[in-house]
Amino acid sequence: MSANRRDFLTATATVMTAAGAAGAAGAATAAADAAGGEGGPGVPSVVQPIRVFNLRELEERAKAVLPLGNWSFIAGASGDEWTKAENEAAFHRVTLAPHFLGGVREVDTSTTLLGSKLAAPIIVCPMGNQGLAHTTAEAGMAIGTAAEGLLMACSTQSTLPMEAIMAASTGPKWFQLYMPEDRGIAAELVTRAKAAGFKAILFTVDTQGGSPSERSLKAGFKPSNKPHGNFTKAVTTNRGLSWDDVAFVQKTSGLPVLVKGVLTERTVKQAVAAGVAGIQVSNHGGRGVDGSPATITVLPRLVQAADGKLTIVLDSGVRRGKDILRALALGAHAVGVGRPVYWGLGLGGSEGVKSVLAKLRFELQDVMMAMGAAKLSDIDSSFVNHA
Ligand code: FNR
Repeated sequence: MSANRRDFLTATATVMTAAGAAGAAGAATAAADAAGGEGGPGVPSVVQPIRVFNLRELEERAKAVLPLGNWSFIAGASGDEWTKAENEAAFHRVTLAPHFLGGVREVDTSTTLLGSKLAAPIIVCPMGNQGLAHTTAEAGMAIGTAAEGLLMACSTQSTLPMEAIMAASTGPKWFQLYMPEDRGIAAELVTRAKAAGFKAILFTVDTQGGSPSERSLKAGFKPSNKPHGNFTKAVTTNRGLSWDDVAFVQKTSGLPVLVKGVLTERTVKQAVAAGVAGIQVSNHGGRGVDGSPATITVLPRLVQAADGKLTIVLDSGVRRGKDILRALALGAHAVGVGRPVYWGLGLGGSEGVKSVLAKLRFELQDVMMAMGAAKLSDIDSSFVNHA
């Protein structure tokens, strides 16, 4: 596997000591400062609210504050980046059908997702190596996410150990799993996740191959050999994933398992048969198979195949409150947001994350009001024009 692969999968290292937010931030700072450390020199440490006009513009703004290689790694996607662009373009093709004169004066965006009460149907996607954007790394993300009453999914490849991320905030969290080749290590990871208080395992299945991002190659981005926070030694991921691995994780973790990276009805039907709790419809923000469809394009078919038996989260390209409404109208229970919160972390640490998520929540309230939906359960397919 190329050393430049976008979500580099091996880690050699020492486990950092679990600590609270301040300790976690300190550990990340020390790591970022270390020679060749993740992010290297120039990773921001400022914690401040940011003014967010819209989520899309954050990519350019973050470019001014992040080391170019780090920015390119985060912004980049596979191949021609067609899928990355299509993710956003496809949302625009689902036009909105407002219900006027419904007497709606107030809206309620709250929901419960697999037992976790959330202020809105939004989760922060698992994204590795957050020390690339800010010295507080995932601790900053956890604090900002919890402050907005939302759920954070934490990557296997986090800069900080999962226990430190958990200690940084009291908000609900899921643990994202890249399945290690060695099942002993896999069992250890998911057992740790359960003990730490993670509420579900998000089992990512869409990174079995794929090309490195050309942007990050051009920018000379090199994954550091700094450890990922969750490992004490080099770990190889399983390149031959199968449903047997999913069953193994269901059994050993004792937690609800959601399969992340689902794009076909076939996989949905298999997921139902496997008895998983849910799926995350995702193309990894265009970082997986370039040429795969936008998630909103395939969502209606997948919802139909799930037949009401799965919790369904959709990510990739969600940038507006109206995108959330579109996804919910077409049958998702919640959406995941990726890069925009990573940019928020870079621009303002936990406060920057909070600003981004607050803006997205506000936009959702605003579009629900404008469209005549008082609560999430009011939103159905009659709110969109879609073949
Ligand atoms: C990711 N993503 C990801 N997914 C995952 O399951 N495990 C991981 O470690 C990572 N790492 C990662 C790093 C970076 C820098 C990015 C941008 C993305 C994919 C992520 O969870 C999600 O599917 C996409 O980011 C959603 O698309 P948008 O919102 O970024 O367009």
